[in-house]
Amino acid sequence: MRYDVAVVGGGPGGYVAAIRMGQLGLKVALIEEGELGGVCLNRGCIPTKALYSATKLLERAEDAQAMGIEFTAPVIDLEKLASWKDGVVSTLVDGISSLLKANGVTVYQARGRLDGTGRVALSAAETVDAERIVLATGSSPIEIPGFSFDDPHVWSSDDALDLTEIPRRLVVIGGGVIGLEIATIYNRLGSAVTILEMMPEILPGVDLDRRTIATLKRALKAQGITVRVNTAAKSIEKTSEGPVVQIADGGDVAADRILLAVGRRPNSAGIGLETVGIEPDRRGFVPVDEELQTSAPGVYAIGDLVLGPMLAHKASHEGILVAEAQRRTQGPTLQVSETRSDVTEWVIPQAIFTDPEIASVGLSEKKAKEEGCDIIVGRFPYAALGKAQGMRETEGFFQVVADAKSERLLGAQIIGAEASALIAEAALAVQNKLPLLAIADGIHAHPTLPEGLKEAAEAALGRAIHAVNR
Ligand code: NAI
Repeated sequence: MRYDVAVVGGGPGGYVAAIRMGQLGLKVALIEEGELGGVCLNRGCIPTKALYSATKLLERAEDAQAMGIEFTAPVIDLEKLASWKDGVVSTLVDGISSLLKANGVTVYQARGRLDGTGRVALSAAETVDAERIVLATGSSPIEIPGFSFDDPHVWSSDDALDLTEIPRRLVVIGGGVIGLEIATIYNRLGSAVTILEMMPEILPGVDLDRRTIATLKRALKAQGITVRVNTAAKSIEKTSEGPVVQIADGGDVAADRILLAVGRRPNSAGIGLETVGIEPDRRGFVPVDEELQTSAPGVYAIGDLVLGPMLAHKASHEGILVAEAQRRTQGPTLQVSETRSDVTEWVIPQAIFTDPEIASVGLSEKKAKEEGCDIIVGRFPYAALGKAQGMRETEGFFQVVADAKSERLLGAQIIGAEASALIAEAALAVQNKLPLLAIADGIHAHPTLPEGLKEAAEAALGRAIHAVNR
């Protein structure tokens, strides 16, 4: 069968690209070996957020005592919780399937592999021929020496999300985003959680200011999560009492289950890159040019397969860029008007579902200074918001960083309740190069949490109402 475009991989990069190209009237094939929605929907963003919100109830119920409402001890039906979470996922998978159908995309449930120019070989002994090919095969968790996912004591994030048991002691190796999010969920479910991070600070891969990390660490401690930094896990010793994680500099930590969350690598092996002369870099990323085109004309790569933050919304954005370019294109090469460098410059928001949540966009205060920017900074605490007080969510703060001269917003960081949603206003401002006044002069409904961002912008301008300006 011949198509205008074949997309390999049905995650948030691939399926979004396919839908948009379908909307543009192109004949599109989408090849996905597993479930539509990829890791994000099936084994990542969505199941973790379902479990995050479900387990938040446990914490809220306990805290309700302070407001004069008491519940009896909760009963956790793990099987029911897992099946509810699976139901959330399958509803969304069905939704994607219907959208692809409605937009005329043909879905092949098979493993796809490039097979020379303009051809994808399928595991089902079929081939798909297409003028252009978009590779969106995503990434997989990595192992480190001494730890293997074949060991039943070692969990990948997939195993943790299967929700088969609540380990009494969960040792999390890697204080990155996945480690912290899963630690938060299992701590709420009742596991004693220890996080081991080899770097001097948790979340070393995210551009966050010291104050934000300090606030998070205080909260993790208050929740009973043990965080050990400068602590590299080396191996596992099996004892009659269970597995014991050995630390590189000496010492050990006993566990019942060990979550290995030490990063992910692009799925660039086994997809036939060599058949069109594409060479991944030494970490497995597929090099692309400004237009997301690989070294093979007519073959594009998006999402976790190419450099940049491994985030679903970055993949979807790149999927849209590649798709949109089609309307202007004749022949095998796309003309991507909004280039990849724009994408990175546009800054991609990130939301981390710890307790409290953390969200950021643009430059941190530290990064802005490192880059030599002359900046002004404004902060505003949740505790000064009426709405936050009424919610008993007073931990955390809003922070904005702006260019001192133009007052253009360069970045924002929020740590606190609903930070993941609240970052959207700052992301709009950063992406559109808006000045602080766009937020400070905006009328925000009262009493709401978004008032915190307005006050932080006002604080940067020295005119916050509900905080003393210094
Ligand atoms: P990561 O790269 O964010 O963190 C891995 C951590 O493991 C690093 O801090 C590293 O220093 C540490 N580490 C490595 N070897 C170690 C050892 N032997 N002992 C102790 N610590 C060790 O990787 P992670 O958390 O697996 O996430 C993968 C990707 O998925 C990231 O790019 C992340 O941004 C993305 N992601 C984003 C989410 C979000 O934005 N909410 C949610 C889930 C994943």
